[in-house]
Amino acid sequence: MNLESLAQSLKKSTRVAVLTGAGISAESGVPTFRDPGGIWAKFRPEELASMDAFLSHPERVWEWYHMRRKTVHEVKPNPGHKALVQLEKLIPEFQLITQNVDDLHNRAGQKNILELHGNLTRSYCVSCGEPASPDYLNQFEKEIPICPACGDKLRPDIIWFGEMLNPEILNSAIETARRCEIFLVAGTSALVYPAAGLPLEALNNGAQVFEFNLEETALSHLVHGHFSGPCGESLPQLLSLL
Ligand code: APR
Repeated sequence: MNLESLAQSLKKSTRVAVLTGAGISAESGVPTFRDPGGIWAKFRPEELASMDAFLSHPERVWEWYHMRRKTVHEVKPNPGHKALVQLEKLIPEFQLITQNVDDLHNRAGQKNILELHGNLTRSYCVSCGEPASPDYLNQFEKEIPICPACGDKLRPDIIWFGEMLNPEILNSAIETARRCEIFLVAGTSALVYPAAGLPLEALNNGAQVFEFNLEETALSHLVHGHFSGPCGESLPQLLSLL
């Protein structure tokens, strides 16, 4: 299966879903997690992306999230993000499902997004649960942001290791994967569940699944087509054929 034949299938499809991972933001300059030099090569996830870490060292956790938010604020969506915005306009029932928390799909203009792991621009209070606006959060540089409603600590609106995903969002993603005719997977190592189970749901329900990645992944032997290379190039190439 080549890009041309995938484009022909997409032209005839009404229900398409896309799952993205950190690889789609790599060409914007946002580090991935498991590539050489990625985030987990420098930091231990349990020291920064877990409730235990937050309870024992909230200032260190917030310093890391303030730094990640600043990094993302300084970059912009790349042609891979923009290609998916274009694809959404062409498909009657389109759903983007992302593992990314970098807000770049939003900033690219994507409309239908299911954010499985949360979003760096959002936070909420550990006590009263009140959400804080991105502008309020941006007032804090390194220190722990304080809830404007009750004065307790804010936490990032990110799903940490060991935490459950938002059940409504996850159920929508599973339903989308089960109903779609074509499921694209772009820039993910397909190692972290439940996100990594979504392409399998699509496959089990008869969808055609295609992978866009620099390299082979845990999913590659199961998909109908694997398009090797940077998705900031392969996705725009696909859209140019539609
Ligand atoms: N184009 C396409 N694929 C790319 C590119 C690129 N330019 N750059 C990197 N990749 C691929 C890598 O080959 C790898 O398969 O993107 C994938 C990135 O994998 P990870 O770093 O594991 O990121 P991701 O799959 O999103 O991680 C899933 O793990 O740490 C948690 O919650 C975190 O959401 C994250 C989840």
